[in-house]
Amino acid sequence: MKTLNDFDFLGKTVLLRSDLNSDVVNGRVLLSMRIKESVKTIKELKKKGAKVIILAHQGRKGKDDYVSLEQHVKYLCKYTKVKFVKDIIGDRAREEIGKMKNGEAILLENVRFLEEEFKPGKNDLVKFFMGIVDIYVNDAFSVCHRRQTSIVSFPKYFPSCMGRILEREVNALKKIQVKNCLYILGGAKPEENIILLGKNKVLACGLFGQLCLISKGKNLGAQNDYLKSELYLAKKLRKRLKNVTLPKDFAVLKDAKRYELDLSEFPSKYEIFDIGEKTIALFENEIKKAKAIYMKGPAGFCAEKKFCKGTFAILRAIAKSSAFSLIGGGHLSDAMEASKISRQGFSHISLSGGALLRFIAGERLPGLDALR
Ligand code: 3PG
Repeated sequence: MKTLNDFDFLGKTVLLRSDLNSDVVNGRVLLSMRIKESVKTIKELKKKGAKVIILAHQGRKGKDDYVSLEQHVKYLCKYTKVKFVKDIIGDRAREEIGKMKNGEAILLENVRFLEEEFKPGKNDLVKFFMGIVDIYVNDAFSVCHRRQTSIVSFPKYFPSCMGRILEREVNALKKIQVKNCLYILGGAKPEENIILLGKNKVLACGLFGQLCLISKGKNLGAQNDYLKSELYLAKKLRKRLKNVTLPKDFAVLKDAKRYELDLSEFPSKYEIFDIGEKTIALFENEIKKAKAIYMKGPAGFCAEKKFCKGTFAILRAIAKSSAFSLIGGGHLSDAMEASKISRQGFSHISLSGGALLRFIAGERLPGLDALR
């Protein structure tokens, strides 16, 4: 696959697919590692004299984090100047692109606001950029498992290459050791984890751990209500939990403080925000024995400091171990940064959740196939 080194970008119009997808709390987008890292490729392209049109997504339709990219651009601008254009393939976008000079960058609106994004092929999204774009750059490894227009269709019509994030992630894939790997599966997207259940030992945490318990018949009370839209997964999980270690206790929010409850104290009227100390100890012990470790997603709600305890403890244990270690996911890479644990303790820290997980499960990634 080609890299940024393979093109002369001076005066070229570049369509850059970045992944800026970040945590959104009460409508506010939080600054993420994905945003910070994406800046590097944007800066490099600007420096090389390209006109950079950035395309990215935020959230999924129907979810609270499905918002405009207006706030993202403010973060990008902390590091390099980028103009936000509240349009994707309309007259406004065409006009702004037409005005761009070498070394300038614009960010278009959330590409998932367009239906065409979900119907790959030579659709209106692709046609709009024909005659405008010279080179397509994919820097969104974390979306390469999606058969979406901005990932799989552009490479068919434009000379294409990897951005720096994608290049780094692809190089890391070559070194991944998955044999006898201990999987620590958490995070906020539990449906993705199912494909990894089977032979390998799994430590379940995050929403995934809770769903595993529910699938075994445990009633978690208020948390069952919170997980309403994910309960269909509990059924799917039922017969697949042979090698899965489940949480023994949880931290809840009581009187605005962290409060730990043993599993036997559930159902509870309190929602769950982290794993508890007994679970942490159990997981630390498993981590000590592992030769290779893959952790996906945090163990708790890391946007709040008091609920980072489980995730930070697991990360510290992994950093201490001499095992090959792979850390993946947008939320987890943010937690990793917040923990201040040295990156040296990990073999690779990926910005990708689902795409990396699918790679580990042995699936092909359509985004990489398209670039090839
Ligand atoms: C991610 O957060 O893993 C990527 O941005 C992809 O998002 P998606 O799972 O909504 O496609």
